[in-house]
Amino acid sequence: MSDSFRFPDDFLWGAATAAYQIEGSPLADGAGPSIWHRFSHTPGLTENGDTGDIACDHYRRYESDVALMANLGLKAYRFSISWGRIVPEGFGRINTKGIDFYSRLVDALLARGITPNATLYHWDLPAALDDRGGWLNRDIAGWFSEYATIMFGALGDRVPMWTTINEPWVVSDGGYLYGKLAPGHRNLFEAPIASHNLLRAHGAAVEAFRASRAAEKGRIGLVVNLEPKYPASDSAEDTAATTRADAYWNRQYLDPVFFGRYPDEMREIFGEAWPDFPADDMKSIAQPLDFLGINYYTRSVSQHDVEMTPVQAGGVPQIESVYTETGWEVYPAALTRVLLWVKERYGDIPLYITENGAAFYDPLVPVDGRIDDPLRVAYLRDHLNAAREAMEQGVRLCGYFVWSLLDNFEWSHGYSRRFGIVHVNYDTQERTIKSSGQYYSGVVRTNGTSING
Ligand code: FCB
Repeated sequence: MSDSFRFPDDFLWGAATAAYQIEGSPLADGAGPSIWHRFSHTPGLTENGDTGDIACDHYRRYESDVALMANLGLKAYRFSISWGRIVPEGFGRINTKGIDFYSRLVDALLARGITPNATLYHWDLPAALDDRGGWLNRDIAGWFSEYATIMFGALGDRVPMWTTINEPWVVSDGGYLYGKLAPGHRNLFEAPIASHNLLRAHGAAVEAFRASRAAEKGRIGLVVNLEPKYPASDSAEDTAATTRADAYWNRQYLDPVFFGRYPDEMREIFGEAWPDFPADDMKSIAQPLDFLGINYYTRSVSQHDVEMTPVQAGGVPQIESVYTETGWEVYPAALTRVLLWVKERYGDIPLYITENGAAFYDPLVPVDGRIDDPLRVAYLRDHLNAAREAMEQGVRLCGYFVWSLLDNFEWSHGYSRRFGIVHVNYDTQERTIKSSGQYYSGVVRTNGTSING
């Protein structure tokens, strides 16, 4: 690190979680079930049949979890709000007990000086809306902005940072194309429609935000997962495959939001499954944003592969690299690259790393009261250096949120993948700060000067 580099004094050091992954009590206090409740309760869809019924029991333990965050010295906490707790049928009737939970959480955070960063949608769609077609129904833009407006009204006086949707790519790809995630569809023709309606819902919520009093105190953005694509060779075929993969993963959502149009490659990729969307939709999709959140975990090396429909690009394993327990290559340099790419392509908008972290083979139980996770410490250190490098090259990075505060329900992997900087014993709900948590706490307390020890 160059001697003169300093993280800005107001750099937002935080940790992230999501409602269904940590809360438990999914039907408590009048909440409506979500598509993740249904998905995880369907035999064979999650590892070991795991569900979010208990998870980290955060719904009941939020006060001690906020105390834990304070203990770590966190300046910010990124959490998501479960739509079905607020509006059990997805639209219409409001469940005030659900609002009360998030209101108490926000108050607990503020009492400890921790900035709340609220995400409106982190994948747990009310099941009642799925019964009406979910993300395939154009009405969802209206349903989402109605729910968003309720939350802006309820928490807008206290929450300074809002996100509409977390990772629209994963919702469409995992939920509608390959079916690994809720609602588990496998349909080439549905995926583009789901993507488009996610963007319309995002735009409608941003418009609702601007019209609400929450905009007086708060800012709103979108969170995307970006995975830089590197060609496996300089052949024309691999280069074209890499460009298609980049369009599908990295530009599919950002081009519409920032430029008001889809990448040309989308039609090439989806063929007859790519519909002509109404041109007017782009006006609402391309709302100016206050910030962009980037979730970064890995890169991929792409080669032409006709088996890999519809993108026809496959990933090539890198023999010399370390891989995480989710099979993701550890490649910090691509974080620097992606931050620079976003600035260059989309402009100098404030950026946040809203997720970054890794699942590694941690000890399952504490040894002498400790969980040593040296690979995760190295992962965080190397990615923080990569972020710092981008900042030294002029990127306006305003914060970093580690994924995740706690080991939690990792979607279809159930509890088998642990991403936390805090270990959770799922039998006793005991929390143990891992070595990575101690390391990150030090980084936060020194405002980044101790990233290299
Ligand atoms: C991201 C999700 C998050 C978590 C991490 C590992 O794609 O946003 O909920 O599952 O991956």
